[in-house]
Amino acid sequence: MTTKKIILDVADLKVYYATPQGDVKACDGVSFQLFEGETLGLVGESGSGKSTATSGVLRMISPPGRIAGGRVLLDGKDLLAMTEEALRRERWRSLSLIPQGAMNSLNPTMKISAQIADVIETHLGRQPKTELKARLLDLFQMVGLPARIYDMYPHELSGGMKQRVCIAMGIALNPKVIIADEATSALDVVVQRVVAQTMLKVKRALGVSMIMIGHDMGLMAQMVDRIAVMYAGKIVEIATVNQIFDAPAHPYSKILIDSVPSLTERQPLKITGGITHDPRNPPEGCIFQLRCPMAADICRRKPPPMVSPSPGQEAACHFADTKVEATRG
Ligand SMILES: Nc1ncnc2c1ncn2[C@@H]1O[C@H](COP(=O)(O)OP(=O)(O)OP(=O)(O)O)[C@@H](O)[C@H]1O
Ligand SMILES: [Mg+2]
Repeated sequence: MTTKKIILDVADLKVYYATPQGDVKACDGVSFQLFEGETLGLVGESGSGKSTATSGVLRMISPPGRIAGGRVLLDGKDLLAMTEEALRRERWRSLSLIPQGAMNSLNPTMKISAQIADVIETHLGRQPKTELKARLLDLFQMVGLPARIYDMYPHELSGGMKQRVCIAMGIALNPKVIIADEATSALDVVVQRVVAQTMLKVKRALGVSMIMIGHDMGLMAQMVDRIAVMYAGKIVEIATVNQIFDAPAHPYSKILIDSVPSLTERQPLKITGGITHDPRNPPEGCIFQLRCPMAADICRRKPPPMVSPSPGQEAACHFADTKVEATRG
Protein backbone atom coordinates (compact mmCIF):
# COMPACT_ATOMS: atom_id res chain seq x y z
CA MET A 1 0.00 0.00 0.00
CA THR A 2 1.31 3.46 -0.84
CA THR A 3 1.90 5.82 2.05
CA LYS A 4 -1.40 7.30 3.07
CA LYS A 5 -2.40 9.80 5.66
CA ILE A 6 -3.48 8.28 8.95
CA ILE A 7 -6.81 9.79 10.00
CA LEU A 8 -7.48 7.68 13.10
CA ASP A 9 -4.68 6.23 15.19
CA VAL A 10 -5.71 3.96 18.05
CA ALA A 11 -2.94 2.76 20.35
CA ASP A 12 -3.20 0.23 23.16
CA LEU A 13 -6.84 1.02 23.91
CA LYS A 14 -8.14 -0.74 27.00
CA VAL A 15 -11.77 -0.86 28.09
CA TYR A 16 -12.68 -2.93 31.13
CA TYR A 17 -16.06 -3.80 32.67
CA ALA A 18 -16.05 -4.20 36.42
CA THR A 19 -17.93 -7.27 37.68
CA PRO A 20 -18.10 -8.76 41.18
CA GLN A 21 -15.75 -11.51 39.95
CA GLY A 22 -13.21 -9.05 38.60
CA ASP A 23 -12.64 -7.00 35.47
CA VAL A 24 -13.75 -8.24 32.06
CA LYS A 25 -11.05 -6.96 29.72
CA ALA A 26 -13.43 -6.57 26.79
CA CYS A 27 -10.97 -4.44 24.83
CA ASP A 28 -7.48 -5.33 25.91
CA GLY A 29 -4.79 -3.31 24.20
CA VAL A 30 -6.31 -2.67 20.78
CA SER A 31 -4.13 -0.80 18.27
CA PHE A 32 -4.89 0.00 14.67
CA GLN A 33 -4.67 2.81 12.17
CA LEU A 34 -7.31 3.98 9.74
CA PHE A 35 -6.07 5.63 6.56
CA GLU A 36 -7.78 8.57 4.97
CA GLY A 37 -10.46 7.40 2.54
CA GLU A 38 -10.21 3.71 3.38
CA THR A 39 -12.79 1.27 4.68
CA LEU A 40 -11.61 -0.99 7.45
CA GLY A 41 -13.69 -4.01 8.42
CA LEU A 42 -13.70 -5.15 12.04
CA VAL A 43 -14.82 -8.76 12.37
CA GLY A 44 -14.99 -11.32 15.13
CA GLU A 45 -17.57 -13.45 16.84
CA SER A 46 -20.14 -12.16 19.30
CA GLY A 47 -18.52 -10.91 22.50
CA SER A 48 -15.07 -10.43 20.97
CA GLY A 49 -15.20 -6.72 21.88
CA LYS A 50 -15.91 -4.99 18.57
CA SER A 51 -18.57 -2.64 19.97
CA THR A 52 -16.60 -2.03 23.15
CA ALA A 53 -13.46 -1.10 21.22
CA THR A 54 -15.23 1.28 18.86
CA SER A 55 -17.35 2.88 21.58
CA GLY A 56 -14.11 3.29 23.51
CA VAL A 57 -12.64 5.24 20.60
CA LEU A 58 -15.37 7.82 21.14
CA ARG A 59 -15.30 7.50 24.94
CA MET A 60 -18.89 6.35 24.85
CA ILE A 61 -18.47 3.87 27.68
CA SER A 62 -20.70 3.96 30.71
CA PRO A 63 -20.27 2.24 34.08
CA PRO A 64 -19.55 -0.54 34.92
CA GLY A 65 -17.29 0.02 31.93
CA ARG A 66 -14.26 2.29 32.00
CA ILE A 67 -11.42 3.24 29.72
CA ALA A 68 -8.38 1.79 31.39
CA GLY A 69 -5.78 3.17 29.04
CA GLY A 70 -4.70 3.99 25.54
CA ARG A 71 -4.53 6.82 23.07
CA VAL A 72 -6.89 7.74 20.25
CA LEU A 73 -5.68 10.34 17.79
CA LEU A 74 -8.27 11.66 15.37
CA ASP A 75 -6.49 13.73 12.77
CA GLY A 76 -3.82 14.35 15.38
CA LYS A 77 -6.15 15.28 18.27
CA ASP A 78 -6.25 12.95 21.28
CA LEU A 79 -9.90 12.10 21.96
CA LEU A 80 -9.12 10.39 25.25
CA ALA A 81 -7.28 13.39 26.63
CA MET A 82 -9.68 16.21 25.68
CA THR A 83 -12.42 17.70 27.86
CA GLU A 84 -15.99 16.36 27.63
CA GLU A 85 -17.05 19.54 25.94
CA ALA A 86 -14.31 19.44 23.32
CA LEU A 87 -15.15 15.81 22.67
CA ARG A 88 -18.85 16.62 22.23
CA ARG A 89 -17.84 18.98 19.45
CA GLU A 90 -15.92 16.22 17.68
CA ARG A 91 -18.75 13.65 17.89
CA TRP A 92 -20.89 13.60 14.75
CA ARG A 93 -18.86 16.43 13.24
CA SER A 94 -15.45 14.75 13.04
CA LEU A 95 -16.26 11.18 13.93
CA SER A 96 -19.71 9.70 13.92
CA LEU A 97 -20.75 6.35 15.27
CA ILE A 98 -23.81 4.55 14.00
CA PRO A 99 -24.30 2.32 17.04
CA GLN A 100 -25.34 -1.32 16.95
CA GLY A 101 -29.14 -1.49 16.89
CA ALA A 102 -29.41 2.22 16.01
CA MET A 103 -32.40 1.66 13.76
CA ASN A 104 -34.35 0.27 16.68
CA SER A 105 -33.44 3.23 18.87
CA LEU A 106 -35.00 5.89 16.66
CA ASN A 107 -37.49 7.89 18.67
CA PRO A 108 -40.93 6.44 17.79
CA THR A 109 -42.74 9.68 18.63
CA MET A 110 -40.65 11.97 16.45
CA LYS A 111 -40.75 12.38 12.70
CA ILE A 112 -37.67 11.13 10.85
CA SER A 113 -36.86 14.61 9.58
CA ALA A 114 -37.06 16.10 13.09
CA GLN A 115 -34.62 13.50 14.43
CA ILE A 116 -31.99 14.23 11.80
CA ALA A 117 -32.61 17.97 12.13
CA ASP A 118 -31.97 17.57 15.85
CA VAL A 119 -28.49 16.20 15.22
CA ILE A 120 -27.71 19.09 12.89
CA GLU A 121 -29.09 21.83 15.11
CA THR A 122 -27.58 20.47 18.31
CA HIS A 123 -24.16 20.98 16.74
CA LEU A 124 -24.61 23.91 14.42
CA GLY A 125 -27.32 25.84 16.21
CA ARG A 126 -30.68 26.81 14.79
CA GLN A 127 -30.90 26.71 11.00
CA PRO A 128 -33.21 28.60 8.65
CA LYS A 129 -36.18 26.32 7.96
CA THR A 130 -35.93 26.16 4.18
CA GLU A 131 -32.19 25.52 4.22
CA LEU A 132 -32.60 22.80 6.80
CA LYS A 133 -35.29 21.10 4.75
CA ALA A 134 -33.15 21.28 1.61
CA ARG A 135 -30.23 19.78 3.55
CA LEU A 136 -32.42 16.93 4.81
CA LEU A 137 -33.76 16.19 1.35
CA ASP A 138 -30.19 16.14 0.03
CA LEU A 139 -29.25 13.67 2.72
CA PHE A 140 -32.28 11.48 1.89
CA GLN A 141 -31.28 11.44 -1.72
CA MET A 142 -27.71 10.56 -0.91
CA VAL A 143 -28.73 7.50 1.09
CA GLY A 144 -31.47 6.48 -1.34
CA LEU A 145 -34.51 7.51 0.67
CA PRO A 146 -37.59 8.96 -1.04
CA ALA A 147 -38.53 12.56 -0.19
CA ARG A 148 -41.94 11.42 1.05
CA ILE A 149 -40.46 10.02 4.26
CA TYR A 150 -39.86 13.61 5.38
CA ASP A 151 -43.16 13.58 7.25
CA MET A 152 -43.08 9.96 8.34
CA TYR A 153 -42.44 8.27 11.67
CA PRO A 154 -40.00 5.38 12.20
CA HIS A 155 -42.77 2.72 12.39
CA GLU A 156 -43.86 3.61 8.88
CA LEU A 157 -40.48 2.59 7.44
CA SER A 158 -38.99 -0.80 6.59
CA GLY A 159 -35.82 -1.99 8.34
CA GLY A 160 -33.68 -1.10 5.35
CA MET A 161 -35.13 2.41 5.24
CA LYS A 162 -34.60 2.92 8.97
CA GLN A 163 -31.01 1.85 8.53
CA ARG A 164 -30.63 4.43 5.77
CA VAL A 165 -32.02 7.05 8.14
CA CYS A 166 -29.27 6.14 10.61
CA ILE A 167 -26.67 6.46 7.87
CA ALA A 168 -28.12 9.86 6.94
CA MET A 169 -27.76 10.91 10.59
CA GLY A 170 -24.20 9.62 10.65
CA ILE A 171 -23.19 11.74 7.66
CA ALA A 172 -25.36 14.77 8.44
CA LEU A 173 -22.42 16.82 9.69
CA ASN A 174 -19.85 15.66 7.14
CA PRO A 175 -17.60 13.74 9.53
CA LYS A 176 -14.09 12.64 8.58
CA VAL A 177 -14.65 9.17 10.00
CA ILE A 178 -17.78 7.04 10.26
CA ILE A 179 -18.00 3.92 12.38
CA ALA A 180 -20.93 1.68 11.47
CA ASP A 181 -21.52 -1.00 14.09
CA GLU A 182 -23.34 -3.96 12.51
CA ALA A 183 -25.30 -1.52 10.37
CA THR A 184 -26.66 -4.27 8.17
CA SER A 185 -26.79 -7.34 10.42
CA ALA A 186 -30.46 -7.05 11.36
CA LEU A 187 -31.56 -6.87 7.74
CA ASP A 188 -32.32 -9.73 5.37
CA VAL A 189 -29.55 -10.75 3.01
CA VAL A 190 -30.73 -8.85 -0.06
CA VAL A 191 -31.42 -5.60 1.80
CA GLN A 192 -28.17 -6.06 3.72
CA ARG A 193 -26.23 -5.97 0.50
CA VAL A 194 -28.09 -2.98 -0.91
CA VAL A 195 -27.63 -0.97 2.30
CA ALA A 196 -23.95 -1.89 2.49
CA GLN A 197 -23.50 -0.72 -1.09
CA THR A 198 -25.31 2.52 -0.29
CA MET A 199 -22.91 3.02 2.58
CA LEU A 200 -19.92 2.60 0.28
CA LYS A 201 -21.42 4.90 -2.32
CA VAL A 202 -21.94 7.59 0.30
CA LYS A 203 -18.45 6.98 1.61
CA ARG A 204 -16.94 7.52 -1.81
CA ALA A 205 -19.09 10.56 -2.56
CA LEU A 206 -18.05 12.24 0.69
CA GLY A 207 -14.50 10.92 0.74
CA VAL A 208 -14.82 9.85 4.37
CA SER A 209 -12.95 7.04 6.06
CA MET A 210 -14.98 4.24 7.51
CA ILE A 211 -14.92 1.38 9.96
CA MET A 212 -17.51 -1.29 9.24
CA ILE A 213 -18.17 -3.76 12.03
CA GLY A 214 -19.68 -7.11 11.20
CA HIS A 215 -19.78 -10.84 11.67
CA ASP A 216 -19.78 -11.74 8.05
CA MET A 217 -16.32 -12.22 6.59
CA GLY A 218 -17.79 -12.83 3.12
CA LEU A 219 -19.76 -9.58 3.01
CA MET A 220 -16.76 -7.75 4.46
CA ALA A 221 -14.49 -9.09 1.75
CA GLN A 222 -16.62 -7.38 -0.85
CA MET A 223 -16.96 -4.09 0.98
CA VAL A 224 -13.73 -3.16 2.70
CA ASP A 225 -10.07 -2.49 1.89
CA ARG A 226 -8.57 -4.07 4.99
CA ILE A 227 -9.85 -6.39 7.68
CA ALA A 228 -9.04 -6.43 11.38
CA VAL A 229 -9.94 -9.66 13.16
CA MET A 230 -10.80 -9.46 16.86
CA TYR A 231 -10.72 -12.30 19.33
CA ALA A 232 -11.29 -12.00 23.09
CA GLY A 233 -10.62 -8.28 23.27
CA LYS A 234 -7.59 -8.21 21.00
CA ILE A 235 -6.91 -7.66 17.33
CA VAL A 236 -5.26 -10.90 16.30
CA GLU A 237 -4.72 -10.04 12.65
CA ILE A 238 -4.95 -6.99 10.43
CA ALA A 239 -4.31 -7.12 6.68
CA THR A 240 -5.72 -6.26 3.28
CA VAL A 241 -8.64 -8.37 2.10
CA ASN A 242 -6.42 -10.09 -0.47
CA GLN A 243 -3.68 -10.84 2.02
CA ILE A 244 -6.00 -12.31 4.60
CA PHE A 245 -8.00 -14.40 2.15
CA ASP A 246 -4.93 -15.59 0.24
CA ALA A 247 -2.77 -16.35 3.22
CA PRO A 248 -4.29 -15.79 6.67
CA ALA A 249 -1.52 -15.50 9.23
CA HIS A 250 -3.59 -16.22 12.33
CA PRO A 251 -5.35 -19.57 12.80
CA TYR A 252 -8.52 -17.79 13.93
CA SER A 253 -8.65 -15.76 10.70
CA LYS A 254 -8.27 -19.00 8.81
CA ILE A 255 -11.17 -20.58 10.69
CA LEU A 256 -13.35 -17.53 9.95
CA ILE A 257 -12.44 -17.63 6.27
CA ASP A 258 -13.03 -21.36 6.01
CA SER A 259 -16.52 -20.84 7.41
CA VAL A 260 -17.39 -18.56 4.47
CA PRO A 261 -18.91 -20.89 1.89
CA SER A 262 -17.90 -18.78 -1.08
CA LEU A 263 -17.36 -15.14 -1.86
CA THR A 264 -20.66 -14.85 -3.65
CA GLU A 265 -22.78 -16.57 -1.03
CA ARG A 266 -23.04 -14.87 2.33
CA GLN A 267 -24.15 -16.26 5.63
CA PRO A 268 -23.60 -15.37 9.25
CA LEU A 269 -20.26 -16.27 10.71
CA LYS A 270 -20.24 -19.77 12.11
CA ILE A 271 -19.08 -19.99 15.67
CA THR A 272 -16.13 -22.31 15.75
CA GLY A 273 -15.87 -25.14 18.24
CA GLY A 274 -13.59 -25.46 21.24
CA ILE A 275 -13.54 -24.09 24.74
CA THR A 276 -13.38 -20.36 25.33
CA HIS A 277 -11.58 -19.06 28.36
CA ASP A 278 -13.20 -17.14 31.22
CA PRO A 279 -12.85 -13.48 30.12
CA ARG A 280 -12.00 -12.48 33.70
CA ASN A 281 -9.22 -15.00 33.82
CA PRO A 282 -7.44 -15.31 30.48
CA PRO A 283 -4.81 -18.02 30.20
CA GLU A 284 -1.10 -17.29 30.29
CA GLY A 285 0.38 -17.12 26.82
CA CYS A 286 -1.81 -16.84 23.73
CA ILE A 287 -5.51 -15.99 24.24
CA PHE A 288 -6.49 -18.34 21.41
CA GLN A 289 -4.64 -21.41 22.71
CA LEU A 290 -7.72 -23.28 23.97
CA ARG A 291 -9.34 -23.25 20.53
CA CYS A 292 -6.27 -23.27 18.36
CA PRO A 293 -5.68 -26.38 16.27
CA MET A 294 -1.96 -25.57 16.18
CA ALA A 295 -1.30 -24.66 19.83
CA ALA A 296 2.20 -25.65 20.90
CA ASP A 297 4.14 -25.36 24.10
CA ILE A 298 5.30 -21.79 23.49
CA CYS A 299 1.64 -20.69 23.02
CA ARG A 300 0.85 -21.76 26.58
CA ARG A 301 3.84 -19.89 27.96
CA LYS A 302 4.26 -16.66 26.04
CA PRO A 303 1.77 -14.16 24.60
CA PRO A 304 2.58 -13.87 20.89
CA PRO A 305 3.91 -10.49 19.75
CA MET A 306 2.39 -8.78 16.73
CA VAL A 307 4.58 -9.76 13.78
CA SER A 308 4.45 -8.81 10.14
CA PRO A 309 4.63 -11.84 7.85
CA SER A 310 4.27 -9.63 4.77
CA PRO A 311 4.23 -5.86 4.27
CA GLY A 312 1.00 -4.41 5.64
CA GLN A 313 -0.08 -7.69 7.22
CA GLU A 314 0.25 -8.16 10.96
CA ALA A 315 -0.73 -11.05 13.18
CA ALA A 316 -0.35 -12.05 16.80
CA CYS A 317 0.73 -15.67 16.43
CA HIS A 318 4.02 -17.39 17.23
CA PHE A 319 3.82 -19.14 13.87
CA ALA A 320 2.50 -16.31 11.71
CA ASP A 321 5.55 -16.18 9.45
CA THR A 322 5.69 -19.88 8.82
CA LYS A 323 1.94 -20.12 8.11
CA VAL A 324 1.98 -17.42 5.46
CA GLU A 325 5.05 -19.06 3.87
CA ALA A 326 3.31 -22.41 3.84
CA THR A 327 0.12 -21.04 2.23
CA ARG A 328 2.11 -19.22 -0.42
CA GLY A 329 4.55 -22.04 -1.04
N1 LIG B 1 -21.98 -3.77 30.80
C1 LIG B 1 -21.17 -4.82 30.72
N2 LIG B 1 -20.78 -5.47 31.85
C2 LIG B 1 -19.96 -6.55 31.79
N3 LIG B 1 -19.48 -7.08 30.65
C3 LIG B 1 -19.84 -6.48 29.51
C4 LIG B 1 -20.70 -5.33 29.47
N4 LIG B 1 -20.88 -4.97 28.16
C5 LIG B 1 -20.15 -5.86 27.43
N5 LIG B 1 -19.54 -6.75 28.23
C6 LIG B 1 -18.66 -7.85 27.82
O1 LIG B 1 -17.66 -7.34 26.98
C7 LIG B 1 -17.33 -8.30 25.98
C8 LIG B 1 -17.37 -7.63 24.61
O2 LIG B 1 -18.70 -7.23 24.29
P1 LIG B 1 -19.03 -6.42 22.96
O3 LIG B 1 -20.47 -6.09 23.02
O4 LIG B 1 -18.06 -5.33 22.80
O5 LIG B 1 -18.74 -7.52 21.83
P2 LIG B 1 -19.11 -7.50 20.28
O6 LIG B 1 -17.90 -8.06 19.60
O7 LIG B 1 -19.57 -6.16 19.87
O8 LIG B 1 -20.29 -8.56 20.19
P3 LIG B 1 -21.57 -8.62 19.19
O9 LIG B 1 -21.03 -9.21 17.92
O10 LIG B 1 -22.50 -9.55 19.88
O11 LIG B 1 -22.10 -7.25 19.02
C9 LIG B 1 -18.30 -9.44 26.15
O12 LIG B 1 -17.65 -10.47 26.85
C10 LIG B 1 -19.40 -8.85 26.97
O13 LIG B 1 -20.01 -9.84 27.76
MG1 LIG C 1 -21.29 -5.47 19.05
